[in-house]
Amino acid sequence: MAAIKLSLFILCLPQLLVLFCSFQLCFSFRAKHLNLSAIGTHWAPAGATWYGSPDGAGSDGGSCGYGKLVSQTPFSSLVTGISPSLYNSGKECGACYQVKCTKHPSCSGKAVRVVITDLCPGCVSESAHFDLSGTSFGAMALPGQEEKLRDAGVLEIRYARVACDYSGKTIAFHVDQGSNSNYFATVVEFEEGDGDLGAVELKEGSSEEWRKMQQSWGAVWKLDAGAELHPPLSIKLTSQYSGQTLIAKNVIPQGWKPGATYRSVVLKWEDVEIGEPKEGEIRVRNKAIGLNFIDVYFRTGVYKPPTLPFIPGREACGLVTAVGPGVTDRQVGDVVAYAGNPMGSYTEEQILPADKVVPVPESITPVIAASVILKGMTTQFLVRCCFKVERGHTILVHAAAGGVGSLLCQWANALGATVIGTVSTKEKATQAKDDGAHHVIIYGEEDFVARVNEITSGNGVDVVYDSVGKDTFEGSLACLKLRGYMVSFGQSSGTPDPVPLSALAAKSLFLTRPTLGHYNVTHDEILAAAKDVFANVASGVLRVRVNHTYPLSQAAQAHADLEGRKTTGSVVLIP
Ligand SMILES: NC(=O)c1ccc[n+]([C@@H]2O[C@H](COP(=O)([O-])OP(=O)(O)OC[C@H]3O[C@@H](n4cnc5c(N)ncnc54)[C@H](OP(=O)(O)O)[C@@H]3O)[C@@H](O)[C@H]2O)c1
Repeated sequence: MAAIKLSLFILCLPQLLVLFCSFQLCFSFRAKHLNLSAIGTHWAPAGATWYGSPDGAGSDGGSCGYGKLVSQTPFSSLVTGISPSLYNSGKECGACYQVKCTKHPSCSGKAVRVVITDLCPGCVSESAHFDLSGTSFGAMALPGQEEKLRDAGVLEIRYARVACDYSGKTIAFHVDQGSNSNYFATVVEFEEGDGDLGAVELKEGSSEEWRKMQQSWGAVWKLDAGAELHPPLSIKLTSQYSGQTLIAKNVIPQGWKPGATYRSVVLKWEDVEIGEPKEGEIRVRNKAIGLNFIDVYFRTGVYKPPTLPFIPGREACGLVTAVGPGVTDRQVGDVVAYAGNPMGSYTEEQILPADKVVPVPESITPVIAASVILKGMTTQFLVRCCFKVERGHTILVHAAAGGVGSLLCQWANALGATVIGTVSTKEKATQAKDDGAHHVIIYGEEDFVARVNEITSGNGVDVVYDSVGKDTFEGSLACLKLRGYMVSFGQSSGTPDPVPLSALAAKSLFLTRPTLGHYNVTHDEILAAAKDVFANVASGVLRVRVNHTYPLSQAAQAHADLEGRKTTGSVVLIP
């Protein structure tokens, strides 16, 4: 039960579906991807022997290619060789089985989960035979009777194919020593879910094409590309039984090394149970959830989550379904929205501190509220507090067609500023113009510093709102006028390099790295900022662009599209 992963959930309410994010660097595209766990456990008879040392992993040179990894987590020596019929030419490497014995007096009857890491070529006498590691064999015994059981010879056991569950440890790829820039081979060290592999495909960072890898042997898959491969590389695994796929996005980074192991993250759609709201808390059934780039930072490890696994998400709108003791200003049936802390909005229902939510006016739908609460409050503090935008200012907004960017252009225009926006495509440029950007620069095609210089007749801009980071930071400083403000509020392209003070001294510049939470600390501040945002939506100053809606269960796809710069305006997840 997923709730065991989060001690905060208690066992008394109906089960809810949430998305857990488990580690760094990639995700699964599937909700409920463990088909095997859904079809139940079917026990069948088999024979069992053991090999290697009594408390070892059998062999570390097994046919699947896991090598010494068999004795390390997550395998931890609970591995087995298997008869050719079950080994299926290595396609079953990594598959998980439960085995148990009852017929011998030393058998405990307890099921032990083992992973296929080897072929047992001589095991042809029965249709199914497990040549277990000494550790696996002993694990079927009553406590203290492991040795007696190992002395039993060929044992009659029962076995059942089960889903692999590595408690969020997800997938690891061990790059083969023989790999080079044109030839890539990897051991799929373990994969959650069905466990078996029907197909493995690889995609280069610069390409949309998935290229089929060939099974080299066991769990080793290879691609002889014939030309230089351009990392980061993504790897897609397809189960031969269920056809379900798992994508490890950009799991092999630039500068990868033969012999190294790269791990991935999984966004998993799971049932959890939540409790009643405690003192000062409310329970909210989410109607719409906003997707933000910060969710990507947490998923990919740019920001460290407090725990693993965790439920991502920091923006939502929903209906209050229960009110905890001491809460006087909220009641069941209220429509509320929240932005920022606590993390965990990728869920059908959640518990929230009552002082973190704001009421949503009737004129604003839950989808609009979830699209604008975090991005709008961010825009609000950026234009009103961080740097106070006024008539006559000239401002530069990077990623002007994005969620925050779109609102920034609109609000700054309404405040009387001349707005210069940067975007990556012509389509985005059209939207930014429509949102009030007076000048739009396609930064992949034009030198934005030279263009800003031209537009401002060499004077520079009063402020740069830079959420792109690494790719734009230096140019942004160059765009500023004397005593200009550099507001670095995000890093969608990566974290900027450290800034020497001399870079600011050149024009007596101001530099700030602000965060929404630091501008909205108290309940009153949160209420006032949200009220300002909703008032601007109601008056038409802000036209909220809900350009992309996904079912919550497809959050991974939404992440991929946001990261892939395919989205404009707000992205909303519907539970
Ligand atoms: N400090 C805060 O409190 C705070 C609060 C909210 C948001 N933010 C920041 O505001 C920014 C915008 O957030 P958002 O949720 O509205 O996202 P978004 O702007 O809708 O999406 C990010 C955009 O960044 C641009 N971009 C440039 N280089 C990129 C790259 N290498 N990879 C991906 N995107 C790249 C893309 O636009 P183009 O294709 O046009 O370049 C992309 O559409 C993020 O950096 C976020 O962290 C900060």
